[in-house]
Amino acid sequence: MMQDRKTLRRQMRARRRALSPRQQRQAARSLCHNLRSQLWFHQARHIALYLPNDGEIDPTLLIDLCRRQGKQLYLPVLHPIRHNRLWFTPYNRNTPMRRNCYRILEPVLQGKPIRPAQALDLVLMPLVAFSADGGRMGMGGGYYDRTFAFKLQEKALRGPRLIGLAHDFQRQEKLPLEPWDVPLDGIATERCVYRISC
Ligand SMILES: Nc1ncnc2c1ncn2[C@@H]1O[C@H](COP(=O)(O)OP(=O)(O)OP(=O)(O)O)[C@@H](O)[C@H]1O
Ligand SMILES: [Mg+2]
Repeated sequence: MMQDRKTLRRQMRARRRALSPRQQRQAARSLCHNLRSQLWFHQARHIALYLPNDGEIDPTLLIDLCRRQGKQLYLPVLHPIRHNRLWFTPYNRNTPMRRNCYRILEPVLQGKPIRPAQALDLVLMPLVAFSADGGRMGMGGGYYDRTFAFKLQEKALRGPRLIGLAHDFQRQEKLPLEPWDVPLDGIATERCVYRISC
C-alpha cells in the first residue's frame, strides 16, 4: 500500500539521520564516483548542488573536482522577492555564508551575480524519497517544484538536467505524487545511477 506523504517523509528523514558519520563518508565517496562516470556530468559547465542537511547524501566531494575541471558551481538561495522560489548564486570554498530561516547555510547574496534556473546545465537536488522512474518527494516546501515548474510547461525548452541525489534506501516502488511535482531526469545514489531521460 502506498504510504501518505507525511508518513513517508518522517520515516525516510529519520532513517537518513540515523546513518553514522562513517556510513555518510562512504556513501559520499561512492556517490561521487558514480557521478564522475556519467557523460552528462562531464559535459556540464554550470552545476548547482547543495550543502547536506538532515542526513542528506553529501555531494561536497565534487567541489574540488569541479574546480579542477573548470566547472562553475552554484548553491540555491531563497528568493528574496519571488516567494518560495530558489535563486542560484556562484559558490566556492571561500564564499561568505549565512543561515537562512530554515537554519540552512546559504551564500550571502549582496552584490553576487544570480544565475536563473533555466541557465544551469545540471542541477543536483536533495530529496526525501524517489522512485526509479523519476518521481521525487522533497521536504515539503515546494521550492524545487516551483523553481523548475517551467520543465513541466514547455517541453520544447530543454532547460537544465535535473538529477536527484539520495541514499539508495530512499527509493520507493511507487510514490504518492501530485500534478505539480517536477520529475527527475535521473537519480544518483551510492549504489548506482537510475537513468530516466539521460
Ligand atoms: N509550481 C507550483 N506553483 C505553486 N505552488 C506549488 C508549485 N509546486 C508546488 N507547489 C506547492 O508547494 C507545496 C509543497 O509541495 P510538495 O509537497 O510537492 O513539496 P516538495 O516537492 O516536497 O518540496 P521541494 O520542491 O521544496 O523539494 C504544495 O502545497 C504545492 O501546492
Ligand atoms: Mg514536490
